[in-house]
Amino acid sequence: MKPSTTKLFLTYAFVVALILFGIGFILMPLAINNEKMIVILTLIGGFIIFLIMIHQIIDRYIKPVQSAATVAEELAGGNYKVRAYESYYGDIANLSNALNILARNLQEMKIQEKIQGNQLRTVIDNMESGVMLIDERGYVHLVNRKFLSLFGQSKKDYVGFLYYSVFKQKPIHKVVQEAFLYEKKVKNAFTIEMDIEKRYIEIVGAPIFNEFKTLKGAVLVFHDITDLKRLEQTRKDFVANVSHELKTPITSIKGFAETLLDENLSNVAVQEKFLKIIYKESDRIQSLVHDLLELSKLEKDEMQLQYQRIQISEKINQEIIPIIQHQADKKMIHFNVEIKEQLEIEGDLDRLKQVLINILNNAINYTAKGGSIDFKVKQENNYLVITVKDNGIGIPEDKINRIFERFYRVDKARSRNTGGTGLGLAIVKHIVEAHKGTINVTSELDSGTTFTITLPKIKPFKDK
Ligand SMILES: Nc1ncnc2c1ncn2[C@@H]1O[C@H](COP(=O)(O)OP(=O)(O)OP(=O)(O)O)[C@@H](O)[C@H]1O
Ligand SMILES: [Mg+2]
Repeated sequence: MKPSTTKLFLTYAFVVALILFGIGFILMPLAINNEKMIVILTLIGGFIIFLIMIHQIIDRYIKPVQSAATVAEELAGGNYKVRAYESYYGDIANLSNALNILARNLQEMKIQEKIQGNQLRTVIDNMESGVMLIDERGYVHLVNRKFLSLFGQSKKDYVGFLYYSVFKQKPIHKVVQEAFLYEKKVKNAFTIEMDIEKRYIEIVGAPIFNEFKTLKGAVLVFHDITDLKRLEQTRKDFVANVSHELKTPITSIKGFAETLLDENLSNVAVQEKFLKIIYKESDRIQSLVHDLLELSKLEKDEMQLQYQRIQISEKINQEIIPIIQHQADKKMIHFNVEIKEQLEIEGDLDRLKQVLINILNNAINYTAKGGSIDFKVKQENNYLVITVKDNGIGIPEDKINRIFERFYRVDKARSRNTGGTGLGLAIVKHIVEAHKGTINVTSELDSGTTFTITLPKIKPFKDK
C-alpha cells in the first residue's frame, strides 16, 4: 500500500472504530451479564468485517483510480512508457485498459517518429550536396556532413548563428536575400579555397513555406561543380589544341599553294619542292584527323574490345618485330628483343598491336642514331609484362606525368618533325586501361626511358 492509501485506510478504520465505540457506549449500559460479552464480541467482529471491506474498496476502486490519474499525468508529461494498474472490476477496468492502449499507441507513434527522424537525418547527412537550413530571421538551424566537408569547422560553429556572420561570400548573401525577397528559387556560383586548390561551388537557395503559405525560412543546397568545370576547361583546351594543330599545316598548305598560283614559277624543282611540302602537310592533317577519330572511338563508353585468345609471342615476332627492325636499321639502332616463347593472352589483337607499335615507334623516334632499344615480353603470375627500354633523349622529371595527355609533346618542334601529333600515348593509355592493365614510365633526361605495360592474361569481369 502507498502511504496515501495507508493514511486513507487508517482514517476509515478510525472513523469505523469511533462509530462502533459509540454504539458500544450506548448498548453497554442496557446489557446485563453475558449480554455485555456478546455486544463486545459483535462489535469486534463488526470492526474486523468493516476493516476487510475498507481494504477491498481501496484495493478495487481507489487504487486503480489513483494509478490512472498518475498515468494520465505521466502521459501528459511525455513519458509514454508508463502503464496503468490492470484491474478486473467494471468501469475501472475499462478506464485502465483504455489508458494502457492510449499509452501503447503514443509510445508506438513516438518510436515511428524517431525512426522517421533518423531516416531523414541519415538521408540529409549522406547527401552528395551540402545542405543548410535557415529560419525566416536568418538563423542557421541545420547543416549536413557534406556541407561541413566543403566549408570546414563543426556543426556548433554554424547552428544558432546568423547566416551572414558565418559566410563571408557575397554570392551566398545574395542568394538568401533574393530567395526571401522574391520567394522563389535562386542560383549562384562562387569559389572557395580548400587546402591548396580552388573549388567551384554552385548554390541553390529555395524558400520554405508553412501550410498558410507564409515564409518560414530557406534551404540552401551547395553542389561541388569543380569536376564539371574542369571537364569544361579540358574540352575548351581540346578544341583550342585541335584548332591550333590544324591551323599550322593548313596555313602552310595555303601559303605554298598561293605561291604556286601567283608567281609564274618556271623552275620545276622549286614547284616540286613546294608540292612535296603541301603533300607532307596534308599527310599530317590526315594522320591528325585519323588519331582524333581513333581517340573519340576509344572514349565512347561502348568501346567494345574484340577479345580473343592470342598467341602473343608468335604475333609479335611475325607482325611487329619486322616493322620495327626495319625502322631501327634505318637509324642504326640496336634493337634487342627478348620474348618468352608461347605466351598467350586474352585481348583485342589489333588494339594491342597498336599499343606496342606506338611505344616502339616512340622509342625509335626519341633515340639518337646508334642508340639501343631493349624490348622484353614475359609472364609474371597472371599478367603479361612488356617493357620497352631505350637509351634516348629521355623525359624531364616534371614532364613525365604529362606525356599521356592529348597533344602533349615535350619538345613540340622535334616531335612535329617526326610527324607526331602528340596523341599516340593518349590512345595507348586508353587501350591499356580498357584491357584493365597499367602503363608506367621511368625516365632520365639524356639517358633513356622505360615503358612498362602490365596486362591481365585472362579477360577480367566487366565490372571489375
Ligand atoms: N621513349 C621516349 N623517349 C623520350 N620522350 C618520349 C618517349 N615517348 C614519348 N615521349 C614524349 O612524350 C610525348 C608524347 O608522346 P606521344 O606518342 O603521345 O606523341 P608523339 O610521339 O609526339 O606523337 P604521336 O601521336 O604521333 O605518337 C612525345 O612528344 C615525347 O616528347
Ligand atoms: Mg608517339
